[in-house]
Amino acid sequence: MRSENIITGKTRVCGLIGYPVGHSMSPAMFNAAFRELGLDYVYVTFPVREGELGTAIAGMKALNVRGVNVTIPHKVAVVPLLDELSPLAQKIGAVNTVINDDGCLRGSNTDADGFLGPLLERGIDPQGRRVVVQGAGGAARAVSFILAERGAQLVLLNRKPERAIELAQVIFRAFQREVSALELNVSNLENVLGEADILVNTTSVGMAPNDGDSPVPAGLLRPGLVVYDIVYNPVRTRLLREAEAAGATVIGGLDMLVWQGALAFEQWTGREAPRQLMKNEAIKALPK
Ligand code: ATR
Repeated sequence: MRSENIITGKTRVCGLIGYPVGHSMSPAMFNAAFRELGLDYVYVTFPVREGELGTAIAGMKALNVRGVNVTIPHKVAVVPLLDELSPLAQKIGAVNTVINDDGCLRGSNTDADGFLGPLLERGIDPQGRRVVVQGAGGAARAVSFILAERGAQLVLLNRKPERAIELAQVIFRAFQREVSALELNVSNLENVLGEADILVNTTSVGMAPNDGDSPVPAGLLRPGLVVYDIVYNPVRTRLLREAEAAGATVIGGLDMLVWQGALAFEQWTGREAPRQLMKNEAIKALPK
């Protein structure tokens, strides 16, 4: 691999808009990928506070920034500031990737497609599968929308059940698909996991520094179940370790992180992203 990024008079600038952004692994992931392919691109972080999003997006046009990823707290607020939206981003009402094509800003949601990639890559098609999603926050929203679009039968479980019910209603309005919504507790998990094909954890349970926790009792994990934990720190969560020990198929959140970044990379550069390299760099850049 080349040791340095190329910075010239024509360097195209990409970055991350959010707050805070200082601990992001994206600069390591993207700049390594640009180096690997010899592309005259650079990726930087833009710490943008809540009240500054409008000027930041206008500045993106003025400064001819090629593309940005958008993260907390701007994924929803950025939507009305863009010129065009992908159909899925429009439905979800949240954007995490923007491309600037000669002043036309197009938004998409690569969190959703980035979640799907690692499943399809393993030959797992959600069509007609029974999928249990734990959590009802922003991540659950992107995950549930792409699963509903792909024809999965969804059960949403959340600690505050009213948030799961609300998300189920939003999905019904968008796709006319019935979605079950229940409180996240052991007895409901027990009832729904016996019939499930895929379990997705979108809650923060098990995330460092609470990496001794798991959102699912180990006794409910079994062979034949696909367990997808979108937590990426630690890379192997307690849930994934116990699922693997129980003979389940496991997918970790780092794969989703790399996929969503790879899809943004491909939009901005028109080149295939070096996914394995991006994964290695993300692991190296994980907060210690
Ligand atoms: P994100 O955008 O990452 O999804 P979020 O909107 O803050 O973040 O959502 C966090 C999710 O983790 C929520 O579903 C939250 O459950 P509540 O809606 O009931 O708060 C879930 N969560 C966080 N800590 C949890 C815990 N200790 N037990 C169960 N669920 C938890």
